[in-house]
Amino acid sequence: MKSIIFSQTGKPTDILKLTEIALPEPGPNEVRIKVIASPINPSDIMFVQNLYGIRPQLPSGAGFEGVGVVDALGEGVQMKTGMRVSFTSVGTWSEYAIAHQRSLIPVPDAMPDEMAAQLFVNPFTAYAMVQDSGVPEGGWLMVTAAGSAFGKLVIQLCAMRGIKTIGTVRRNDLNDDLKTLGLTEVINTETESLPARVKQITEGKGVTCVLDAVGGHTATEAVSCLARGGTMLIYGLMSLQDPSLNVGLLIFRELTIKGFWLTDWMRRVDSHIRQDVAQNVITLLASGEIQLPVEASYPLEQIAEAVEHAERNGRWGKILVKP
Ligand SMILES: NC(=O)c1ccc[n+]([C@@H]2O[C@H](COP(=O)([O-])OP(=O)(O)OC[C@H]3O[C@@H](n4cnc5c(N)ncnc54)[C@H](OP(=O)(O)O)[C@@H]3O)[C@@H](O)[C@H]2O)c1
Repeated sequence: MKSIIFSQTGKPTDILKLTEIALPEPGPNEVRIKVIASPINPSDIMFVQNLYGIRPQLPSGAGFEGVGVVDALGEGVQMKTGMRVSFTSVGTWSEYAIAHQRSLIPVPDAMPDEMAAQLFVNPFTAYAMVQDSGVPEGGWLMVTAAGSAFGKLVIQLCAMRGIKTIGTVRRNDLNDDLKTLGLTEVINTETESLPARVKQITEGKGVTCVLDAVGGHTATEAVSCLARGGTMLIYGLMSLQDPSLNVGLLIFRELTIKGFWLTDWMRRVDSHIRQDVAQNVITLLASGEIQLPVEASYPLEQIAEAVEHAERNGRWGKILVKP
């Protein structure tokens, strides 16, 4: 079968190779999945660069989530082959992937493959983080990189809960589309002062919570936009620059800064909460109330073009790999 493999870590377009490898066999409690589609997420790129929370065992496959059809069952798996599932695994940019049965989410017939391929990483994270943010109805939540897939989900989830949102962008061409999704206020960090605009928007009070994946100067300024007792949840570092922290602000406004990683959240919360979030995410996506736009799809043979497109500034939707 064909699979995208890397034998050393580094620049994805240089090291990701389409490789012919043996069809894998599922072990106990695992299934083999014939992959239909898989997104290119920032975490996939960071994994290949050895910048992620888990290290690749070289040579390694790439891609962490996808949708496909269960094609073979390992020992102890009680299900039928032929079922369409969303799943997580290491090596989803491949004709076939092996996944633990615990990671499978059966996909409703009405859900298109393009949506089912991205069911897990961003929707679960957005849902869990809006929940963890503790922002009440009528309160203010700020999300940096509001035009990201994650940002768009947060905007839509907050709008449904009556939470007011401020979204930061670094270019203005998506502002109208973000407003249509439900974003209350948009701030361009390249041309406007983030603290001054937030102060004006919130009438001097600041926001209850910031969700940040940009880091650097944007995160440094975002901390100063927090209201007394506010929280910043950091879940990414797209600028690859650490923020610098004003300790005086932390102390005298009693601020909290916390990391968030979906992998740990899944381990931390009990199975009840996980199932509840899964059910809510699936219901929202299947109902069409929440959008997960796709900009382009590429076959495995064009992985370099696909990754280059995924890393390009100014996309509106995800890039998918379709074996
Ligand atoms: N911790 C977790 O468990 C977890 C789970 C899910 C996602 N994440 C993180 O969430 C973030 C977003 O993921 P995604 O899939 O939603 O991404 P995405 O759809 O690929 O979008 C990337 C966004 O980041 C913006 N961006 C990139 N570099 C930037 C920079 N230096 N300064 C400001 N903006 C920048 C882009 O802006 P332009 O549109 O202007 O190019 C774009 O809006 C990533 O960091 C990812 O790792 C973390």
